[in-house]
Amino acid sequence: MENYPNLASQKSTYIVKQLKDFREGRRQDPIMNNMAASLDDVTIKSIAEYYSGQTSK
Ligand code: HEM
Repeated sequence: MENYPNLASQKSTYIVKQLKDFREGRRQDPIMNNMAASLDDVTIKSIAEYYSGQTSK
């Protein structure tokens, strides 16, 4: 888990940008590019708001 970023409390606008960047290939990571590939804009926004509202462990 050490290599994976924490998303809890991250700004939703930041998460939206990263997921769109992964989806469009502007940001490169083999796992995340695949994961983001099938997400539409509305889904990305809900994911971002969900994680943004979580508190860190
Ligand atoms: C098997 C599960 C997952 C693995 C192994 C994984 C792995 C990773 C890795 C390695 C990165 C950093 C990529 C880089 O260095 O450029 C990353 C970033 C990210 N992941 Fe995932 N991820 C997983 C699931 C998810 C899920 C379910 C979401 C949300 C739908 C997600 C959202 C993000 C976001 C928003 C970033 C950017 C974080 C930042 O810039 O701080 N990931 N992930």
